[in-house]
This record gives sequence, structure tokens and C-alpha cells, in this order.
Amino acid sequence: MNKKTIEDIDVKGKKVLVRCDFNVPLDVNDKTKITDDRRITEALPTIKYLMEHGAKVILCSHIGKTKDKQTLLPVAKRLSELLNREVPFAKDVVGEDAKSKAAALNDGDVMLLENVRIHEEEEANDPAFSKELASLAEIYVNDAFGTAHRAHASTAGVAAYLPAVCGYLIQKEIGIMGNALENPERPFVAILGGAKVSSKIGVIENLLEKVDAIIIGGGMAYTFAKAVGGKIGKSLCEDDKLDLAREILDKAKAKGVKMYFPEDSVCASDISENATTSIYNSKEIPDDLEGLDIGPKSIEQFKEVIKTAKTVIWNGPMGFSELTPFATGTIEVAKALAENTAATTIIGGGDSAAAVEKFGLSDKMTHVSTGGGASLEFIEGKVLPGIAALNDK
Ligand code: 3PG
Repeated sequence: MNKKTIEDIDVKGKKVLVRCDFNVPLDVNDKTKITDDRRITEALPTIKYLMEHGAKVILCSHIGKTKDKQTLLPVAKRLSELLNREVPFAKDVVGEDAKSKAAALNDGDVMLLENVRIHEEEEANDPAFSKELASLAEIYVNDAFGTAHRAHASTAGVAAYLPAVCGYLIQKEIGIMGNALENPERPFVAILGGAKVSSKIGVIENLLEKVDAIIIGGGMAYTFAKAVGGKIGKSLCEDDKLDLAREILDKAKAKGVKMYFPEDSVCASDISENATTSIYNSKEIPDDLEGLDIGPKSIEQFKEVIKTAKTVIWNGPMGFSELTPFATGTIEVAKALAENTAATTIIGGGDSAAAVEKFGLSDKMTHVSTGGGASLEFIEGKVLPGIAALNDK
């Protein structure tokens, strides 16, 4: 990457504003409880480096949406446990508490600001707010890979007012995913799932230039099945994307990229934990049923493809994996990736990362991205504003 990093600047004695992505999931019934702290633990290398090099570290992040006004206090508590020291928490972002707590920092100290999205100016990338945020510090570090696709005040705007560099997490994410995309060991296989073709068009188009094969699962597979004349019952389908699906198939053929679709599907008439399921050919689904997971034949076929791959990028579950009757396809694909120890295996964040984590297979992957939307946009080949805003080397 051609962007300056924390190792390219002298941070000793300097106030350093660090944008992290602490948008961690909270227990729905108890918003003080963090249910997965990976985004916090993944930020630790940068935080520790800055503390060890004598910076006065001011951490900031969003959590939830602007309308939620969710506090980051649970993150301050978790950080205090992980760093084994009290992490002071400012009750505001650019107000009196933030300013006085920042002024009280000694070299090597760390603090956390309140959720930047308590200000509507954050998402609006308001220049005055960016400037005020910048005035808390002398250096800006962006390590929020998961939010790097957002051009917000704390992810991009602030970089106009301070020397701006990236942290270790952004370097790691871009390094591993960028290398896989630009310089993959082959065969290079992409696995794409999720509900909609429309949300993956950019990804498919970019990957068609790079991969040897694409496996399609999840709800989006049925738009392709219908596009080639299949009967898909009540399965998810974007009828306005049928032409596009056919275009993608033609393009893949022209480029010599093999595309694999689920031959069979786990079908049901209702989406529930107690659903009665049956297996049908994915192009012969009865009118009253919906395809909700890839079937056993598809699992075997996808496993064969994954087995021989040397690089795999996976984004999107194979079925409605939140519910047990429709989780098998996603679990089996995750296992197949875990078993292919000769391959570089990359989980492109979001639902597939959550699934791999839930099945206890994260450690078996080369890389599980902390970004959902951000990793998708990166795989699409888009410029991420939070990275573009940083200083070049
Ligand atoms: C994410 O969870 O994808 C990031 O934290 C970005 O959050 P957002 O979609 O609310 O901007």
C-alpha cells in the first residue's frame, strides 16, 4: 500500500486521534453486553504500538446508526479489561469532557471518546465538525477498516486537518485481500452467497476479471436458476435482474470462468426453526415451496471445487443460516475451507464472518475480515474513502 503508516511518523508525546471500528454487536436484551469483541481485539496492535511509543492516544468510533444514539461505554469497559488498565471514557466527542480528558493524558495513556454518531455532522462529513475533532489531536490514525467505505467526518474529513496515516489493521486487511486479488495462487475460487444478485453485481463483475471459478449459493442463486428457465417456486428472485444474470453467465463463459450453482436445494414452505424441509432440484422447486439452503449434492460438488483451490474468497452465506434447518450448507462450506489448509482462505466479513465465528472455525481461516460493506467494496475494486484520505508515502 502506498499510504503512510504509524511506523512512518514520530508519535512520541503527541496527541494521536485513532479512528477504530468499534461497531460491535450488542446483546439485544442487554445493550451493555458485547456479544463479539473481535473488532476490539483486532484494534489492539495499533493501540499498543502507539502507547508503547509514547503517544497520547485518543480513540474514537461509531456504534450503531445515528438514530440509535448508542453509547460506546461498553467498549471502554472491554478495552480496560483487554489493556489491563482503566481507559477513561469521555461523555462527549468534541465537548468539555473530551477536551479536559484529552488534556490530562500523559505519554502512553489512552482514552475513548463517546460515539461519534451522536453528532449528525459525522455522517454528513461536515467540515466544521471534522476540524473540531481534529483540534483534539496532532496526528490522525485511521484503523477502522470496517468503516473505510464511509466518507464520514471521523473516517475521511478529519484527515484534511492533520497528518493522516493508517494503522496495522487496515494494513493487514488491505495487504491480505489485495494480494489475493492481485496476485492469487491458482486456482482462485470465489464463493458468493446472500439474498440478492443486485448487491453483488459489482463484486461479480470485478471477480470475473480475476478468478478461475465462482460458486454461487444463497438466495441469489434462484435468480440465476430462473434466468436459465428453472422453476423456483416461492424462492427469492429479482425478476428485474434476470437479463443481468444471463449477461453474467455469458461474460463468465467468454472469460473462461467456471460458474457453479446449487444443483439441489433444501426447501420449505415457512422460514422457522421447526420448518419441515425437503430436497428438490434447484430448477424444479414446487410452487408452494422456497429454496432456503443448498442441498446435499450441491454441498458435495462445492466441496470438490473448494478442495482443489489455492485461494478462496467467500462472501455471503449459502442459505438462511441463522436457522438450524437451513444452516448446513453454510456450515459445510465453512468446514471445507477450514480443511483446505494448503489454500489462502479469506472470509469477506459480514454474515459469512459471523457464521464462521459461530461455528468456531475462524482460527482455521487465513483471514476473517472485520469489514462487511467495506470488504465487499474492496473486493469490488472500489476506492475506499477512509483510505484514500490518508497521506501517501
Ligand atoms: C459495519 O458494521 O459494516 C461498519 O461498522 C459500518 O457501519 P455502517 O454500515 O453503520 O456505516
